[in-house]
Amino acid sequence: MNLLKFDSTEKLNEAGAGIITGLIQTNRRAVLGLATGGTPVGIYGEVVASYRRGLVSFKEVTTFNLDEYVGLPEEHPESYHSYMEQHLLRHIDLPREQAHIPNGNAADLQEECRRYDALLDKAGQIDLQLLGLGHNGHIGFNEPDHALISGAHVVTLREETRQANARFFPSLADVPTQAITMGVGTILKAKMILLVVRGADKAEIVHRALTGPITTDCPASLLQTHPHLVVLLDNEAGRLFP
Ligand code: F6R
Repeated sequence: MNLLKFDSTEKLNEAGAGIITGLIQTNRRAVLGLATGGTPVGIYGEVVASYRRGLVSFKEVTTFNLDEYVGLPEEHPESYHSYMEQHLLRHIDLPREQAHIPNGNAADLQEECRRYDALLDKAGQIDLQLLGLGHNGHIGFNEPDHALISGAHVVTLREETRQANARFFPSLADVPTQAITMGVGTILKAKMILLVVRGADKAEIVHRALTGPITTDCPASLLQTHPHLVVLLDNEAGRLFP
């Protein structure tokens, strides 16, 4: 594991974006696994800035998002489809058909999970998987449980996850109760994992995930088993690391 701490969000964002664009510069057909949420917004901003400066092109890149809410229309401002459009896709030259996000409005959600896994299989290994971290140790929407599921699946969001995400919605009642998420098996198959964590409120969970027991009660603890894990922390989230 390579853990880097930054004394400002700007530096962390630049470092994260540099890892992503550097990969694409060396492999123009890179397959990226992408995250949403508050954490990567600034990283995407820096990636877009690099694209605008002509440092990188996404024409042959393929992306797979980790997750999408079930039942939220794609055009809803808080759907992960809208998020990706707003923060990345509309600003870069990635052909839309190469950007994959689970369809949370599919008539048959189980079939949609199978379709998503088949697409991932066809694309081969994810070269770089970007991850944020939930306060309860979730990655993607793989919530703490007695067992974790390897492939894409429908998940019922934990109450604490809905509460954490309520900040993006008018009220808690508006936060969807289910999502489709990429499974932990798929996440761990990525060649490289880039975990980004910010804020004092995540200091304990990131420390527990990376140094505590490996357990399905903290899905992110499985990242300890990954041979190529890079962790970017701001000083607040990294408080418990020397
Ligand atoms: C998002 C995702 C989630 C978030 C996590 C942290 O696609 O899969 O695991 O990364 O909930 O969210 P933020 O960054 O909003 O604190």
